[in-house]
Amino acid sequence: MNENTEPIPKRIEFTPIGYVENDYLEPGYNEEIYEKVSKIVIKKDLEDGLYRVEELEKLYILFYFSKSEGYKLIHRRRYDGEMSGVFASRSPYRPNGIGLTIVELLKVEGNVLYVKGLDAIDGTPVLDIKPYVKELEEKAERSKE
Ligand SMILES: C[S@@+](CC[C@H](N)C(=O)[O-])C[C@H]1O[C@@H](n2cnc3c(N)ncnc32)[C@H](O)[C@@H]1O
Repeated sequence: MNENTEPIPKRIEFTPIGYVENDYLEPGYNEEIYEKVSKIVIKKDLEDGLYRVEELEKLYILFYFSKSEGYKLIHRRRYDGEMSGVFASRSPYRPNGIGLTIVELLKVEGNVLYVKGLDAIDGTPVLDIKPYVKELEEKAERSKE
């Protein structure tokens, strides 16, 4: 499509679907977080959206870097020490402040998900949850080859 006549939205507003609970209170580098269990408490009125989620082993968690102030377009990446643009990094200081992490789903109790590997601190607003199914991701990749 060459032309889109829809007005371009100037702002996009989200309401969190829930919040993270763990004992990781402030942002800062901490490898241990990947071994810890976090709770994701989903709003009660959205609980039905968790139907059959317990059948999944892994989930994508989209969240908001609520404690980040501002952003840096170029910075030094932690994982290899190289300078890079923010869109070539996983920095929490980004223009739209969206975090994305794949977590292991341990159990579900009502509106509470127990997950391992979530690098979001206590109180982080969660924007969305989606299944991560490795075979489906790989199939989608292969179909592009
Ligand atoms: C490097 S980011 C990567 C996050 C995610 N895996 C991603 O790739 O988008 C992870 C760091 O973000 C920081 N962080 C976590 N929750 C945050 C929040 N609510 N506000 C600001 N920073 C946060 C923590 O210091 C954590 O170590």
